Amino acid sequence: MENAVGEVQNILVLGGRSEIGVAIARELLTPSTQRVTLACRRPDETRDVEASLSRDGLRVDSVIFDGADTSTHADFIDNVVATSGDLDVVILAFGLLGTQEECDDDPQAAVKIAHTNYTGAVSISLEVAKRFRQQGHGRLIILSSVAGERARKANFVYGSTKAGLDAFAQGLSDAMVGTGANVMIVRPGFVHSAMTAGMKAAPFSTTPDVVAQLTVRGLRAGKRIIWTPGILRWVFVLMRHLPVAIWRRMPEG
Ligand SMILES: NC(=O)c1ccc[n+]([C@@H]2O[C@H](COP(=O)([O-])OP(=O)(O)OC[C@H]3O[C@@H](n4cnc5c(N)ncnc54)[C@H](OP(=O)(O)O)[C@@H]3O)[C@@H](O)[C@H]2O)c1
Repeated sequence: MENAVGEVQNILVLGGRSEIGVAIARELLTPSTQRVTLACRRPDETRDVEASLSRDGLRVDSVIFDGADTSTHADFIDNVVATSGDLDVVILAFGLLGTQEECDDDPQAAVKIAHTNYTGAVSISLEVAKRFRQQGHGRLIILSSVAGERARKANFVYGSTKAGLDAFAQGLSDAMVGTGANVMIVRPGFVHSAMTAGMKAAPFSTTPDVVAQLTVRGLRAGKRIIWTPGILRWVFVLMRHLPVAIWRRMPEG
């Protein structure tokens, strides 16, 4: 439960090793925060992440979670709540980028990305929303992407999963109005993280810390959708309407 001045006490990071997810959790911490739960596929490999969050009075736990294993999601949320109590902020940060080449060579690779980024995210978000309705409060932060604004031939499988997730998140955000809980959508551009390691940075690239600062500022201001950095909102007004002949010739970086 958030305290009387709105400080977050209990945070759950879905994709608990995500550099962006962890940076958002860190940015949310105040002396009142009591617990952060890192939900990830290999909870025995999070010692470094736990250490990066550690401070007096804060408990950081890592628990097993597979975003793609939708049959486990209801029990997962029940167990987290039984252990840690009401959830104040849930950060949905898991996802797969993959490459278009591997999807073209092996369509099952595309299915895995689609299942994780869309189906898995839908499943766990609805479980979180169900819990938030019972609590009468809670904020769900969903990591979408500018890649969902207009699919590029260079990574259209990933882009399409983010387009679907973004549409879902907008609908869920509207559906939660009046419940006391809300959903915020974050649309980052290129972020330097494990996901993009070794890739050529796109214009307006940024870092997990900057995404985290803008996200927490947006959350405190009650925003429904934010772009990180903010200028990408206007860049994509243009991108969305570029004639297809030009769009197809855009650099693939
Ligand atoms: N980096 C960017 O440029 C960028 C831009 C726009 C949006 N985003 C989105 O922001 C989110 C966070 O990305 P990031 O940059 O922080 O990347 P990241 O550091 O690679 O984090 C992604 C995390 O997702 C986890 N994951 C993948 N499949 C999973 C599954 N089935 N169950 C549980 N966890 C799973 C990975 O866990 P493992 O440690 O087990 O592999 C990894 O820790 C993603 O949704 C991404 O699509 C990123």
